[in-house]
Amino acid sequence: MASPTPAPSSPTLQEELALAIRHEHTALNQLLSNRLPLCLPPHTSDPFIYAQGLCVVRHLYTGFEYAWETLLSQPPSDDSSIPTPSYLHTLRTPNLSRHLRQSRDVHDLSQQLGPHRTIQLEKLIGATIHFHKSTFTLNLQHPHLILAYAWTLYLAIFNGGRFIRAELEKAGPGFWGGSPDKRDWPLEFFNFAGKEDGNDVEREFKRRFDIAGEELSRQEKDDVVAEAKRIFGVFEAVVRELDRRVVDGEGFGGVVLGGRMALRRVLQSPSVVVGGVLGWVCRGWWMVVGPCLGRRRKISGGRGALGHEVQGEEKA
Ligand code: HEM
Repeated sequence: MASPTPAPSSPTLQEELALAIRHEHTALNQLLSNRLPLCLPPHTSDPFIYAQGLCVVRHLYTGFEYAWETLLSQPPSDDSSIPTPSYLHTLRTPNLSRHLRQSRDVHDLSQQLGPHRTIQLEKLIGATIHFHKSTFTLNLQHPHLILAYAWTLYLAIFNGGRFIRAELEKAGPGFWGGSPDKRDWPLEFFNFAGKEDGNDVEREFKRRFDIAGEELSRQEKDDVVAEAKRIFGVFEAVVRELDRRVVDGEGFGGVVLGGRMALRRVLQSPSVVVGGVLGWVCRGWWMVVGPCLGRRRKISGGRGALGHEVQGEEKA
């Protein structure tokens, strides 16, 4: 008698997510790859444009990471409160959280750029705070959506983030504050503690995600997939707002580059066309180049950007 065919196993939540975001990812990848040269020489001689981008993108990370922290720090439930879902504990991965590292970067960038530009950064942060607020409120009210934000925004760093970091590093020490040691440059957002350039953190996060995902109902999984797709739209809104405020220079000391003209010039330049194509195929590219870029830095304490106290590496 023929042995029975094993029943096909249903896809994991990560597999569902990877399939669902493919189209959105390609579009956003191209949008970002096209704009990356604007942050760098020869288009600019200091990291002010990059700092502005970081300040706005940061809102998305702080939005969900602060909501996550808030939910985890709830006192043990009494009858009147809903207990913190256990998957939020499960998913918490050592050395993954980004907000302190972003804070350190903004602090170091503002030191380098000086008081006038620090004020401009503060204004930009204030003018775009709605990205933080809406993300924070949504995640606080719907804790299962934290899985969508964590998966999308952390995997963005493990994949595209490495490509972006390699491009940014090419600007050299003079651009990033003068130190010959890359570990002193304000690019901690893209770095991970440890010797594996975050590969161990990524593995551990994905392992935990699989366990956490199993704790969700079918409806919650569907919500996570839908939200992950939507996050790409939110990220695109961040890019569009940066185009308007930074490239066009609407009252924030925008990039004195000739605004739209500069963007158009950059978008039409052969290097960007090549860069766009590179972005599309950069998984293979990264597999070759990535291992050469392993580097870490000491984690020091200090005063974070725009007044926040910054501690050492966060713990799970
Ligand atoms: C310059 C910009 C970017 C580049 C070059 C880039 C590149 C990549 C590459 C090469 C991969 C691996 C694809 C694969 O496994 O088949 C990837 C995966 C991923 N990226 Fe990006 N990315 C960029 C921006 C972003 C952004 C802004 C987000 C989030 C908003 C994002 C979210 C993700 C996610 C969630 C994955 C995992 C997909 C999966 O595992 O199948 N990426 N990215």
